[in-house]
Amino acid sequence: MLYQTLARPVLFRIGRGDAEAAHDTTLRWLSRVSTQRQIRNALIKVNRVNAPVEVCGIRFPNPIGLAAGMDKKGLAIGAWPALGFGFAELGTVTGQAQPGNPQPRMYRLRKSGAIINRMGFNNDGAQALAARLTAAPPVDCPLGISIGKSKAVPIEQAVPDYLHSLRTLYPFADYFAVNVSSPNTPGLRQLQDSSALRELLGAIRAEGDRIAAGRPRRPVFVKIAPDLTESAIAQLLEVCLETGVAGVIATNTTLGRDRVDPSEDAIAAEPGGLSGRPLTEVSREIVRFVHTETGGRLPIIGSGGIMTPDDAASMFDAGASLVQIYSGLIYGGPSVVRGSVRRYKKFAKQRAKAAAHPPSRPSPTT
Ligand SMILES: Cc1cc2nc3c(=O)[nH]c(=O)nc-3n(C[C@H](O)[C@H](O)[C@H](O)COP(=O)(O)O)c2cc1C
Repeated sequence: MLYQTLARPVLFRIGRGDAEAAHDTTLRWLSRVSTQRQIRNALIKVNRVNAPVEVCGIRFPNPIGLAAGMDKKGLAIGAWPALGFGFAELGTVTGQAQPGNPQPRMYRLRKSGAIINRMGFNNDGAQALAARLTAAPPVDCPLGISIGKSKAVPIEQAVPDYLHSLRTLYPFADYFAVNVSSPNTPGLRQLQDSSALRELLGAIRAEGDRIAAGRPRRPVFVKIAPDLTESAIAQLLEVCLETGVAGVIATNTTLGRDRVDPSEDAIAAEPGGLSGRPLTEVSREIVRFVHTETGGRLPIIGSGGIMTPDDAASMFDAGASLVQIYSGLIYGGPSVVRGSVRRYKKFAKQRAKAAAHPPSRPSPTT
């Protein structure tokens, strides 16, 4: 409530012309929170609702996470659990430092509850993130690290570029997310095609085995686009199962512009990936498809248009084991995170009750 009445109007005013300015201001505040242990601990007490879950051998204090892209450079690592998150995904980070696309490159569509971005993986590179993580105090939640391809690296050289980031960041990640679905790096989505994906994921598995040296390797999730057809997703899932991928993140932003409020058609014409409310149903239905297609064998992190606690519950109901929020945090603030954990607890209770007392079948009539 405080966020919507106080913080959001200030931030949206700062970012009236440029949404990225508001984003940078928020990260600066949060990076201060991140380094102050007492403030962090006090905020964790207020904001974090516990609902422990274990997925892929990782224990999460609750299943609501921060989606990739918000803290690409790892500037506010300690702040995310203080806002109530049960995990945070840093990145997407690339092998090489890069400035991203020219500004402006982030737009808010307020009536649609949406954001368009074409950031283009602006980040300081894997080495700089590793240095920041080395210096950071211990974090109160699991960390995922999203890795992607450097823009300057041709698509044929993508594998060594991903492996460089994997090696550099291996000690710091509880899991890795392989980003092959951002619409803002030319050619990146081609890596979702079966043969390219098989090569990339096979190499990541082999490198993970080598680094882990007999210990269990870090789980790897693959993040997919919402713009794939069902048959393309089915093929991609086969490759994931073949190459020992731990799970899928569904979904990234969309190139589609359906469900945008018509009064915002002019901003909607900006190139880039669309997130937020217009994505809610699309992402949820992809999560449902992945869950059904794999018979629940691949854990799913649901991402896309979780703007309210009810949206989070629907994502769990569709088959997600964990969910992530980005646009919902911008529009609703940390209460969306807290509310989603509470709603998850209710959902989990109902699900356990239903499993314990399945509806009795009518007895066959003779
Ligand atoms: C400004 C912005 C930057 C993003 N950057 C990344 C990124 O670097 N890597 C990534 O995997 N996803 C990125 N995303 C996508 C989000 O992680 C998320 O999957 C997507 O926005 C859908 O969730 P939402 O509707 O809750 O925002 C970005 C999204 C936004 C809005």
